[in-house]
This record gives sequence, structure tokens and C-alpha cells, in this order.
Amino acid sequence: MAKIGIFFGTDTGRTRLIARQIAKKLGETADAPVNIGRTTRQGFLAYDALILGSPTLGDGELPGQSVGLSQPSWEEFLPQLANADLSGKVVAIFGLGDQKKYPDQFVDAIGLIHDVLVARGARIVGRWPVAGYDFSASQAVDGDAFLGLAIDQINQPVLSEERIDTWLAHIRPELLP
Ligand SMILES: Cc1cc2nc3c(=O)[nH]c(=O)nc-3n(C[C@H](O)[C@H](O)[C@H](O)COP(=O)(O)O)c2cc1C
Repeated sequence: MAKIGIFFGTDTGRTRLIARQIAKKLGETADAPVNIGRTTRQGFLAYDALILGSPTLGDGELPGQSVGLSQPSWEEFLPQLANADLSGKVVAIFGLGDQKKYPDQFVDAIGLIHDVLVARGARIVGRWPVAGYDFSASQAVDGDAFLGLAIDQINQPVLSEERIDTWLAHIRPELLP
């Protein structure tokens, strides 16, 4: 059976840890998480079901060289999808952020990744309610939901595991029909 591909970007490693937690919970249905800066366009496109993770850095930006990362990350990878046809692919996105320190750009990266993939024809699953968070604005919000799972390891770390479990229960049947 085709497996779920998990790709993440990170600065200080929190998003990698969450990606690993998610992979562990999915067991043999998912491949080991891969840093998006170390994959190829072909490696990414090999999957029809994907879980993508990213912190928001800078002022509501993707991880990458613009915000001072020494390695390539989502900023450098997403342009490689410019001519890709992602129709038929099902994608769930999770994002790490800090709602207290960045209340006007909370988990913006979810929205930035979402918009690129939707424009290429991917179907995005795994919206997540905004209830339970305290922030002012986010590019990751549509109506009363985030476009993916928002995780705040700085201010709400004790809530993360339950959030992940609930989210995975929703997306699992969509990613593995
Ligand atoms: C310089 C800097 C800028 C940040 N900017 C944002 C932001 O705009 N929005 C947000 O929600 N979080 C922001 N954060 C918080 C990070 O997303 C959060 O610390 C995250 O857990 C980091 O994940 P990582 O360890 O995978 O890099 C910022 C953190 C740093 C250090």
C-alpha cells in the first residue's frame, strides 16, 4: 500500500519533533519524516498523500534563507512546485507558532503553504477550529478554522498531544482511503 509522506521545515527542531510524533502514531502507514530542505521535487511528488509541517518565522514568514536559516527550507522548496500538477494529491498541513509573541502572524506558514498547493490543484484536508487559541490575526485562518493543525509548543505544550490525536483521527481516513 502507498504510504503517507511527511515533510517538515524547522529552525530549532520543534517541528521535527512533532513530525516524528505524528509518524510514530501513524506507524507503518507513513514513511519517516524528511526535512523539506533535503528532499527533491521528485521525492516529494512520489507521494499521493502528504503531511506537511512548518514553523512560522520572521514576521509571518516561511523558514528559509530570508529569515536567516543556513539551510534551504520551505521558502526554497515551494517555487520548485511552480509547474507541478498536484491534482489527485491529498495534503494535510500542521504549523508551529507562538500566539503570545506573534498574535498578528500566528502560524501564518500554514496559510502560505496551503495557498501554493491549492493553486497547483492539491486537495487540502484537516482544517482545525480556532477555538482554544488567543491571537488577533493569521493568514492561516478561513472563517472559524485554521487551514491545518496549529500547534503552540511555547504557550500550550500540554495541549499538543491531544490536538495531534484528534487531528490524525480526522485526516487518517482522508489520507488513506
Ligand atoms: C525570530 C522568530 C520569529 C518568529 N515569528 C513567528 C511568527 O511570525 N508567527 C508565529 O506564529 N510564530 C513565530 N515564531 C515562533 C516559532 O514559530 C516557534 O518558536 C516554533 O515552535 C519554532 O519551531 P522550530 O523549532 O521547528 O523552528 C517565531 C520565532 C522566532 C525565533
